[in-house]
Amino acid sequence: MTEPVIRPATDADAQGLADLGRQTFIDTFVTGFGIPYPSDDLTVYLDASFSAEAIRTKLKEPGAAWWVAERDGELLAFANTGPNTLPHPDGRPSHAELRRLYVSKAAQGLGLGTKLLKIALDWMEANGDGPLWIGVWSGNEKAQKLYAAYGFEKAGGYQYPVGRWMDDEFILRRG
Ligand SMILES: CC(C)(COP(=O)(O)OP(=O)(O)OC[C@H]1O[C@@H](n2cnc3c(N)ncnc32)[C@H](O)[C@@H]1OP(=O)(O)O)[C@@H](O)C(=O)NCCC(=O)NCCS
Repeated sequence: MTEPVIRPATDADAQGLADLGRQTFIDTFVTGFGIPYPSDDLTVYLDASFSAEAIRTKLKEPGAAWWVAERDGELLAFANTGPNTLPHPDGRPSHAELRRLYVSKAAQGLGLGTKLLKIALDWMEANGDGPLWIGVWSGNEKAQKLYAAYGFEKAGGYQYPVGRWMDDEFILRRG
């Protein structure tokens, strides 16, 4: 089997990113953590977040960056950074935020999440002018452990909408 390659995402990845994002969200939060999203709220959220059209628009967002890990033409993981949007009193749009770090269920535990995180953090240090920010689901201890290993500490919390459902999220900060 060939080694996965990490590269910046392009417009041609929109459908692949949409499919990978949708499946990883379902595998992680619905099947994995068992969050009981009402199905219409989940559908609204998934369509708004993970349609090819939605991703195409997000790929064009000024000041944002996207990377994919790919093997033999198949997307295994992605990361997305951009201007900070988290509702913390010290947060500014000129700071950088890790918006998503998603590794497909089949490719987890191979080090891809760590590799993408390092690339994203270097980009965030170079492209923001303050602390680095991440929002993470309050029950996602695996992701929280990884972020803590890279210096992130809990700085607050907020409610993240999935349709009309609200998830309890932690706001993490480094620096
Ligand atoms: C969290 C996530 C990004 C980690 O990426 P990954 O490629 O699976 O992780 P890595 O192989 O780089 O390992 C990083 C750390 O995660 C933990 N980890 C990895 N595989 C694990 C497993 N099967 N069970 C428990 N912990 C595990 C370990 O602490 C590991 O650190 P180590 O070096 O001490 O072993 C990935 O699992 C993922 O995308 N999960 C689903 C979506 C998600 O939760 N994203 C984060 C939302 S903010």
